[in-house]
Amino acid sequence: MSAPLLSPVKLGRYTLPNRIVMAPLTRNRTVTDNIPNALMALHYEQRASAGLIVSEATQVSPQGLGYPNTPGIHSPEQIEGWKLITNAVHAKGGKIFLQLWHVGRISHPDLQPNGDLPVAPSAIAPEGEVATYTGMKPYVTPRALELEEIPQIIEQYRIGAKNALEAGFDGVEIHSANGYLLDQFLQDNSNHRTDIYGGSVENRARLLLEVTEAVVSVWGSDRVGVRLSPSGIFNSMYDSNRAVTFGYAVKELNRFNLAYLHLVAPRVEGFGSPEDQPDLGADFFRPIFNGTIITAGGYTFETGNAAIASGNADLVAFGRLYIANPDLVERFAVGASLNKPDRNTFYGGDEKGYTDYPTLQAS
Ligand code: PHB
Repeated sequence: MSAPLLSPVKLGRYTLPNRIVMAPLTRNRTVTDNIPNALMALHYEQRASAGLIVSEATQVSPQGLGYPNTPGIHSPEQIEGWKLITNAVHAKGGKIFLQLWHVGRISHPDLQPNGDLPVAPSAIAPEGEVATYTGMKPYVTPRALELEEIPQIIEQYRIGAKNALEAGFDGVEIHSANGYLLDQFLQDNSNHRTDIYGGSVENRARLLLEVTEAVVSVWGSDRVGVRLSPSGIFNSMYDSNRAVTFGYAVKELNRFNLAYLHLVAPRVEGFGSPEDQPDLGADFFRPIFNGTIITAGGYTFETGNAAIASGNADLVAFGRLYIANPDLVERFAVGASLNKPDRNTFYGGDEKGYTDYPTLQAS
């Protein structure tokens, strides 16, 4: 069987040995001040045979934090911590991009500087509960950002991008998916603004495009990717016309000549898909985006190869399979069976379920 996943591919300025991407995965393993540590370095090092690793979502500022023990990229100590990881991955011949994150309203005063309200495009609370340091609490109604504050948000991403460069990453991915800040601006159920950042699709996509411009100013276009989840309903997301909203955003992203567009595929378990509109997968965006496409969401070796063979995607990202199989590339290559991920150890904790999944060689 021919296996396109195992063939090399060009991605921005890099040539990768395979098309298997380790998806960004929140694991909540920092211990002190959201600083990446040696345990995390071992976790990423074990997975360095991926064509590309995208780091777990990493907040660009204290305001961008929404979960306990996720790493940041805003303090000197965090930059030093990330160097442990970039050095470990590079020593194994791997490539790693940092995912730049601001959660917007998916936070809580308990997690915010000075106990402030989380910020968002509009004062609209998501449904559900948030994990704080003292247990689950209902989401609060966020504070709508003032127009005058938007440049500071863009600056947070620019500084995060600059810090990622200093930390030795190979590139950065802008997290504009899964109901976090940039997605909240894009979609019309979370953005009711009446200024130049709300209303028309041009206005709702403005922040994403301005952030992309700022990040590209640091990294150059060929080391920057953008992640979108055009069909997800996770974090209370909805848009009245996703095809138009995301079609426009992707068309405009063409002007940057990015390293890649990373799509979370429809109908991913836990991320959902609206029933009233057609799914928007890589097949929808292929004719719109003039560049490399990574698709993610519940793929197997077989369906991943098929996605590339169909011509709709160039690389495939694997999340849950990468949690449990550090040597996923090698296992795919020889058709080996896969370890099963244990959901109980996904978020938080120690090395258990994090760095102790055996390789084929070890087991
Ligand atoms: C999560 O922590 O649940 C999480 C983080 C980032 C995502 C999606 C989910 O993009």
